[in-house]
Amino acid sequence: GLTRNFSNSTSLNAIKTVTVVGGGLMGSGIAQVAAQAGQNVNLIDLKPELLDTAQKSIQNNLHRVARKIHKDAPAKIEEYVKEASERIKVSTNLEDGTNADLIVEAIVEKLDVKQQLFNRLDQLCPEHTILASNTSSISINEIGAGIKRKNKFGGLHFFNPVPVMRLLEVIKSEQMSEETYQAMMEWGKSVGKTCITCKDTPGFVVNRLLGPYSAEALRMYERGDASKEDIDIGMKLGAGYPMGPLELSDYTGLDTNKFVLNVLYEKTGNPVFKSIPLLDKMVAEGKLGVKTGEGFYKYKK
Ligand code: 3HC
Repeated sequence: GLTRNFSNSTSLNAIKTVTVVGGGLMGSGIAQVAAQAGQNVNLIDLKPELLDTAQKSIQNNLHRVARKIHKDAPAKIEEYVKEASERIKVSTNLEDGTNADLIVEAIVEKLDVKQQLFNRLDQLCPEHTILASNTSSISINEIGAGIKRKNKFGGLHFFNPVPVMRLLEVIKSEQMSEETYQAMMEWGKSVGKTCITCKDTPGFVVNRLLGPYSAEALRMYERGDASKEDIDIGMKLGAGYPMGPLELSDYTGLDTNKFVLNVLYEKTGNPVFKSIPLLDKMVAEGKLGVKTGEGFYKYKK
């Protein structure tokens, strides 16, 4: 019948307005790709200065994208950047973002803080709003434990740098409906990503596999088996990785690397994920990689 056709129509279910909560590196990247896809975006963060930084980095990264599309047409490049950035509205007030079709959370990796946010969103958002977390390794089901709309909740895990990395992991929560799953897969495609699906398991697909690789590289360097440069060159030229494991750790952030390994160890008990004294020491010293100017290598800030 007519109703059935209407409810199956993708254009009626399509996600047009997206709210991203968290204006850090991942949040601003997610906001950017949604704006590039022509969607209306709200970017929410408690800290106004973080929103300023996010807007600047989005402008920069939009220029990189626009230059690729419009090569030697400066007017078109400017137009592309202007149009996309105008689609992103920033606010420090969560309520400015609650009227959205999809909300993606990319805030601090702390279970209780995430749970509080989702409980609030669950109360504030209209019934149809889908809620998703970009967590790297915290359990999706635990994050959503307190919400009522468990059928409209799951994980959308992006990779850094979001505008460049082509993958999106769609994480199925225990009670996610087929409709929500399809909406998430379609939205991922609409923002230019190839989607893979994973159950709510520690580290999902990519971090579960990057974890042992990264941990063994750190231990190899800690033992002095090879220099950091040679470990990195080895995996770039011998295995075709764009970055070596120590460079990648600097790029992702040593604190994030340590956090992911800790969660994987807690959840799986696999000794390969056990804490690594060298990593602990560097994090304690504030050597977090590119973002602090020093990790395994030194960077200009
Ligand atoms: N926005 C838009 N475009 C960007 C960009 C950004 N933030 N960063 C880079 N680019 C573009 C550049 O403009 C360039 O475009 P071009 O090829 O058309 O000139 C292209 O991407 C390549 O960039 P660069 O030439 O500056 O540098 P590289 O060729 O070294 O590539 C890289 C950089 C894409 C970061 C590449 O080194 C890479 O893929 N590294 C591995 C990254 C990775 O593994 N990420 C996943 C980490 S794990 C994770 O995120 C999960 C989390 O839960 C921990």
